[in-house]
Amino acid sequence: EAAEKGGYDSYMLKEIYEQPQALTNTLIGRLHDETGEVNLDINLDPASFKRISIIACGTAYYAGLVGEYLIEQLARIPVEVDVASEYRYRDPIVSPETLAIVISQSGETIDTLEALREAKKGGARTLGVINAKGSSMTRELDDTLYIHAGPEIGVASTKAYTSMVGAMLMLALWLARARGTLSEEAGKELLHATRELPRLVEEALSEERVSRIREVAERYAHARDYLFLGRGVNAPTAFEGALKLKEISYIHAEGYAAGEMKHGPIALIDANLPVVVVGTESRLLEKTISNVQEVRARAGRVILLLSDGDTENAQHADDVLYVPRSHEMVSPIVNVVTLQLLSYFTATHLGKDVDKPRNLAKSVTVE
Ligand code: G6P
Repeated sequence: EAAEKGGYDSYMLKEIYEQPQALTNTLIGRLHDETGEVNLDINLDPASFKRISIIACGTAYYAGLVGEYLIEQLARIPVEVDVASEYRYRDPIVSPETLAIVISQSGETIDTLEALREAKKGGARTLGVINAKGSSMTRELDDTLYIHAGPEIGVASTKAYTSMVGAMLMLALWLARARGTLSEEAGKELLHATRELPRLVEEALSEERVSRIREVAERYAHARDYLFLGRGVNAPTAFEGALKLKEISYIHAEGYAAGEMKHGPIALIDANLPVVVVGTESRLLEKTISNVQEVRARAGRVILLLSDGDTENAQHADDVLYVPRSHEMVSPIVNVVTLQLLSYFTATHLGKDVDKPRNLAKSVTVE
């Protein structure tokens, strides 16, 4: 087993470090810089859908939320995202003009598989964003976009998540190109930003950054609750950050859209509540910073993710974690890596077994 972990203490840590390679494998051969073309080898006609339903569970659901944002922004198609256990029982409205996208690492999660069957029953066309080759879902889907992240053993998903988001980004670009909703220039810029991702994730994993994340994680590891905030395309980054922390450290954590904080979580804020805020470059950054100020005015402790070079906003935080600068649309992939490591170091500091968190299963094949 030690050999399989390739010198790392756990599969989870190994898989965190595999992300640049996993992402390279997700993207390779599918994006063409010179022509701006996206070739996903999908037989469905991208111009024929009026709406998209994204269905998934757990971490894959959060990849779906990022996908919703990207597809609506870039391709201007209405998207809804459901957790599979809700979708399958809510009598969803589906037609042949619906594209149902299921996202799953294992391709075996029973709720997602049943939701896929429900969508097909209504006449939807179906596309899977899947890691495991030949899994049950791939046998029932019209088309599969494999993420090629390689086997993921750690129960808490890391590299499958970033590769899923990479796949959703390519799907959004593919749909946008087919529908003519993205200018050539904006398309090329995004394509370029997407191709930079493996390098940026590598940079997010630099030794210096990792030891800083560890130091911060250990400082707050004895907190009882944690709040994670983000906005826009990085709201799901906050949700995923909270999920990772609760999965492996058993610290109660909530992920919230920053602007929604005032409608509830603000009541919890005191000096014992670390609040992790995704404050990387964005057109909404000013609003996020005003949320940070609201937290601090109530004595909350702020751990702020900022883009490299943003020294101005550092004054608003108790602790800053700098992350490599990236195009806002691709930033969820770069930003989440820091949150994965924050959870990882919190859990290991508390002596938890990150690869086998209690009560959780890698793939849930019973309802
Ligand atoms: C379980 C795993 C999660 C995963 C979820 C969905 O809860 O512990 O890590 O995100 O299932 O799994 P899937 O294989 O469908 O992506």
